[in-house]
Amino acid sequence: MCGIIGYIGNDEKKSILLNGLKELEYRGYDSSGISVLSEGELSTFKSVGKLINLERKCEGFHSSGFGLGIGHTRWATHGKPTEVNAHPHFGKFSNVVHNGIIENYHSIKESLQQQGRSFISQTDTEVIVHLFESHLENLKNPFEAFKHTISELKGAYAILLITQKSPDTIYYAKNGSPLIIGRGKDSKDAEAIYFASSDAPLIGLASEVCYLEDGTLGAIKAGGFHTLPNPKLLSGDKLSAQKDGFTFFMEKEIYEQHKVLLETMMGRVSEDNFSLEELSELDLSSVDSITLCACGTSYHAAIAGSYLIERIARLKVKVEIASEFRYRNPILQANELFVVISQSGETADTLEALKLAKRNGLKTLGICNVDNSSIVRESDFSLLTRAGIEKGVASTKAFATQVMVLWILANFIAQKCGILSKAAMKQEIKTMLEAVRATEVDKKAHEHIKRLSRRYLHGHGFFFIGRDIFYPLALEGALKLKEISYLHAEGYPSGEMKHGPIALADLGLFCVALMPQNLLYDKIKSNVEELSARDAMICALSAEYYEGCDDWIAIPKYSHYMVEFFAMMVVLQIFALEVAVRLGNDVDMPRNLAKSVTVE
Ligand code: G6P
Repeated sequence: MCGIIGYIGNDEKKSILLNGLKELEYRGYDSSGISVLSEGELSTFKSVGKLINLERKCEGFHSSGFGLGIGHTRWATHGKPTEVNAHPHFGKFSNVVHNGIIENYHSIKESLQQQGRSFISQTDTEVIVHLFESHLENLKNPFEAFKHTISELKGAYAILLITQKSPDTIYYAKNGSPLIIGRGKDSKDAEAIYFASSDAPLIGLASEVCYLEDGTLGAIKAGGFHTLPNPKLLSGDKLSAQKDGFTFFMEKEIYEQHKVLLETMMGRVSEDNFSLEELSELDLSSVDSITLCACGTSYHAAIAGSYLIERIARLKVKVEIASEFRYRNPILQANELFVVISQSGETADTLEALKLAKRNGLKTLGICNVDNSSIVRESDFSLLTRAGIEKGVASTKAFATQVMVLWILANFIAQKCGILSKAAMKQEIKTMLEAVRATEVDKKAHEHIKRLSRRYLHGHGFFFIGRDIFYPLALEGALKLKEISYLHAEGYPSGEMKHGPIALADLGLFCVALMPQNLLYDKIKSNVEELSARDAMICALSAEYYEGCDDWIAIPKYSHYMVEFFAMMVVLQIFALEVAVRLGNDVDMPRNLAKSVTVE
């Protein structure tokens, strides 16, 4: 989704803004822009498409010396992705960047137009800058004008505004969309102030950061020493956010899954015990059911989690798609634990579902990859998935760690409720470690999938099928493929095929069958046979050769279905990656998608 960057200091503004935007690229965008205010001059550059287009646009521009700047990557919501609609938006002497949606922009626009102010874009954002300039005309004081402006806005926003009337100040406001202020040193060892919509652009620049709360607004002036409210140290090094020699972030992220899974387990899983310190204050005895709520890949992890929690902890679990849950006036019960799952922690629908549950008095838990994200801050309890920065828009390691956290949670609850014997616990932990090892990519297996992928570039679609917990894995395999290859793919519970979907079976239908040896093997085998008999092309994922298949992707023999689950997960991710690469697609930034969807 949209990304914001801001800077006050002595260093070259253009490069700081452009570098910051580069770090935000992974969020997905269709246009971008920057504005620099230096020596009283306000210079703005915008462009559609990739950042390289913006870089080219401002090639000849330099801004050494003291100044400020704001930048933005846009993912179109109101108005097409054009240069005019790209941020920063400007009035006569001020510029603004904004993430979120101004819901009442129509009425504001109308009244400003009646005052004779003209608009050039189709965006909701443009009203902010005109409203500010209109207030400034009457109030004469920029901060007062900014405060009045913000008080009139309804909706979600993170806003940075600069104006020639106050050339040393950035005005900021935050409500519902993330905004961080960072403090560091510039190359002259003087204080530099940074703004960003997520951590990534601040790594290596800001030494301390402040995650702004909803309803915050303010003004930061250049020069003076600033004390950030509730400052946090910003850790993390840039290297971990780079590609490590892989061509794509997605590939790198697939390959590092075994490492991050171990991180996820650290301190939570020992030789014979599960411990979740983060939940020490949670009274599990008062919980008699769990609702798991999420979007996209995280929703698939939620379904997988429901199988694990019900099977291991014997607790009733309901799974909800956040965007559906929000608006159907759901019945919530007092003893329900409401769990939201999100990689980014900023997904608007998931966040709102969480707030709804809280308003109804439910205990809430956020399973999230980004510390200090809105979801983590909003939840009563949180469990971090520890996947590290995930840059590929198609989620891989975040999914793996979400499933792992849910698996640990299931065991933790079972242990607390006394339904897990010591021996069973030990066995489960051994299985977990084996599952982690199963995600280590075998280069030869990767090569095999790469060769095979060329046979799957045509046809009229894919069915990914599985049973039990392999059903959400099938959903996730199909989502990965469609996200980055743009081929039509659906995930189905294999027992459902004969109730309609099998009508599509013919020579042009590819069927990827998840056939674990340790869970309902014979059942899925007969479902696959039905498809094979109708000429569908079968690609079987299994440990044992299945004679009815056209292609076989062998996974090693394991003795537990969860190990097979993680092994097959990696196969499906690599399969999607290799098909997409052959089709010449931008694997890390697929068309029309955003890494973090902060609008509903
Ligand atoms: C977007 C991303 C998906 C992601 C979904 C939920 O649609 O493209 O990859 O699964 O949002 O995101 P979250 O950050 O809440 O897990």
